[in-house]
Amino acid sequence: MAVNPLKFYQNAVYHLDHVKTQYVNFMKSMNIPKNRPLSVLDIGLGSGRVFYEVLLPLLPKNVSEIIGSDREIEMIDFCRSMNEDPRITFEKLDITDENLPNHLQKRFDLAFSSYCFSYLRDLRHGFKNTGKLLKPDGELLNMFQYKKNGMYTTYRRLSKIEKWRPYTENYANYTTNLTGPTPEVELEKIFKDIGMTLLKYKFFPEYHMDMTKRNILEAYVSLDKVYWEVPKHQQEEYRKDFMAIFSEEVEVDFDDEATLEQVIEFNFPTVIVHARN
Ligand SMILES: C[S@@+](CC[C@H](N)C(=O)[O-])C[C@H]1O[C@@H](n2cnc3c(N)ncnc32)[C@H](O)[C@@H]1O
Repeated sequence: MAVNPLKFYQNAVYHLDHVKTQYVNFMKSMNIPKNRPLSVLDIGLGSGRVFYEVLLPLLPKNVSEIIGSDREIEMIDFCRSMNEDPRITFEKLDITDENLPNHLQKRFDLAFSSYCFSYLRDLRHGFKNTGKLLKPDGELLNMFQYKKNGMYTTYRRLSKIEKWRPYTENYANYTTNLTGPTPEVELEKIFKDIGMTLLKYKFFPEYHMDMTKRNILEAYVSLDKVYWEVPKHQQEEYRKDFMAIFSEEVEVDFDDEATLEQVIEFNFPTVIVHARN
C-alpha cells in the first residue's frame, strides 16, 4: 500500500463545504457549452468525496464523460468500487508526468481539481500538462493549498535524519508553492509562461478548517507514502519521528491522546484558480 483511501475518506471531510461554495461561485463565470456533449476531468480525486459529493451534482446534464484521475492506484480502485454512473471512468495519472497518455490529450472541455496541486513539486509543469489535456478553449477550475505543506516540509526535515534519508532525500530541497510576499504575481507569471489565460483567481490566506486533531493527523497519515517504503521493522520508529516533526511543522500538539478529539482551527491557506486553454 502507498496511501490509505479509507482513512482519507473518513478524516478529510472538512473542506467539502468550502470547495462547494467556491466551485459554485466560480462556475458561474465558466464558459460551459450547453448544446454539445462535454468531457470532464478531475485531477487528483483522492478517495472521491469532492468528486462524488460536490463536483458531480454541479455538472450540467450535457456532460457525457467524466474521468476521475489520481497518481495513486489505491485511490483509483477505491473510487471505482463506489461508482454506479456509466459516464464515469478512472485513470491512473500523474499530472506531472513527462509523457502524458496520448488518449487523454486535448480530450477535456473542463478540468477540476481540489487540493491536489498543493502536492506538486513543480506547479508550472502541472498547469502546463493540464493545458495539454484540455481542448482548445477548455477551462480549468483548481483549488489548492499554497504557502504551507506540512507533509512535504516534514519529509524535508526527515531527510536530514540519517536513517530516514534514503526514503526522503527527494525532499531535501523541497520548497513550498507560492510562499513569496506576492503569490498573485507568481501565479500570473506561471500562466503567462505556459500560455494559458488566467481568467480569475482568489487567495484565502486565512482559510481554516475546524477539525479535530485526530482528523488532521489521520488525514495526513493516510497520505504518507514514505511510511510504506520504510522497512517493516522500522515503521513504528518512523511514525514516531514523523509525528513529532509534523506536529512542529503544523504547530499542533498531537502528543496527548486525551486531547485528540479537541476541535481546532487548522489554517489552510487556499487559492482557487480559473483558467482557459
Ligand atoms: C489531499 S488529496 C485531495 C483529494 C480530493 N481531491 C479532495 O479534495 O479531497 C490529494 C490527492 O492528490 C493526489 N496527487 C498528488 N500528487 C499528484 C500528482 N502529481 N498527480 C496526480 N495526483 C496527485 C494524491 O494521491 C491524493 O489522492
